[in-house]
Amino acid sequence: MGVRTALTDLFGVEHPIVLAPMGGVAGGELAAAVSDAGGLGLLGAGGGDVDWLGREIDILKARTEKPWGIGLLAWAVEAAVLEWVIAQRPSVIVLSFGDPAPFASTVRDAGIPLAIQVTTLDDARQALDLGADVVVAQGSEAGGHGEGRGTLPFVPAVVDIAGATPVLAAGGIANGRGLAAALVLGAAGAMIGTRFEATPEALLSADERAAIVAAGAADTTRDRILDLAQDSPWPHRFTARTLRNRFTDTWHEREDALRFDTTAKEEFAAGVDRGDMDYLPIWAGEAVDLIADAEPASALVARIADEAVQALHRVTSGTPPA
Ligand SMILES: Cc1cc2nc3c(=O)[nH]c(=O)nc-3n(C[C@H](O)[C@H](O)[C@H](O)COP(=O)(O)O)c2cc1C
Repeated sequence: MGVRTALTDLFGVEHPIVLAPMGGVAGGELAAAVSDAGGLGLLGAGGGDVDWLGREIDILKARTEKPWGIGLLAWAVEAAVLEWVIAQRPSVIVLSFGDPAPFASTVRDAGIPLAIQVTTLDDARQALDLGADVVVAQGSEAGGHGEGRGTLPFVPAVVDIAGATPVLAAGGIANGRGLAAALVLGAAGAMIGTRFEATPEALLSADERAAIVAAGAADTTRDRILDLAQDSPWPHRFTARTLRNRFTDTWHEREDALRFDTTAKEEFAAGVDRGDMDYLPIWAGEAVDLIADAEPASALVARIADEAVQALHRVTSGTPPA
């Protein structure tokens, strides 16, 4: 038996489990596996590389007929790309990071549900004013880019202002206990990234996957180092949680020096080119503490859903944890 929420009703899915739109990592195979298992799979399109998206959508459509969606970075997406994405008729478009205002009415007028991922209460208010159909409240435990709120107090604060609009919790959720906690906080489900990053379906090398499985939360850092090293145009307010490596340890708390160090940036680019783990960016969140293997995505969805039901039952019946 699954958990029915406003999210499962809105999208006609079995479980309130959404694959985070991890840029370049959540491709067609992973999104299809999550959707087919009864969750909602999202393609991580970043700023909207149409060649990449076209390829991954073909893979996805060959593997599932269930609902799926596309996530885009609001600060990077262009109007023409959004039109192309709309023409693919996803079941949801997620806009994250940056101002969604220029795009919200285009998505809504196309009759496609709009989800907006937010990292502050002010942005949550804006998302609601723009008519978002779903608000994703992301805490700083999350892998990848984000900001400074903790998931535990942030999610209920967003729920409290969201009225009937479903809220998803994101950041630090990797198992059924995490999903159950999100539901108890008032969320209609969880958007999960890092845990799905460690599945065989994710677009990651075997070394990167193994690094995530081996890491603990203390092996992550939240900073701007990898963006500065690549002269990435990410808005300054967003930092990113990544696995630490030799390069991030070298520049820890020396971001201002890195900003102008062309030699260090060249060294970084060369390290990444040769696939050197001392340099490779691996965006991952505190949930790495809870990842012990590279479980396939479909089994993972079923397990998280099942564990959540059991966890909720345990709490209400007073049964001690197994
Ligand atoms: C490898 C990776 C890449 C990500 N890329 C994106 C992205 O391109 N767009 C986006 O909206 N969120 C991105 N995120 C953040 C997720 O949307 C989500 O907030 C986060 O994964 C939730 O926290 P968790 O990683 O603890 O599950 C990324 C996360 C990870 C781990």
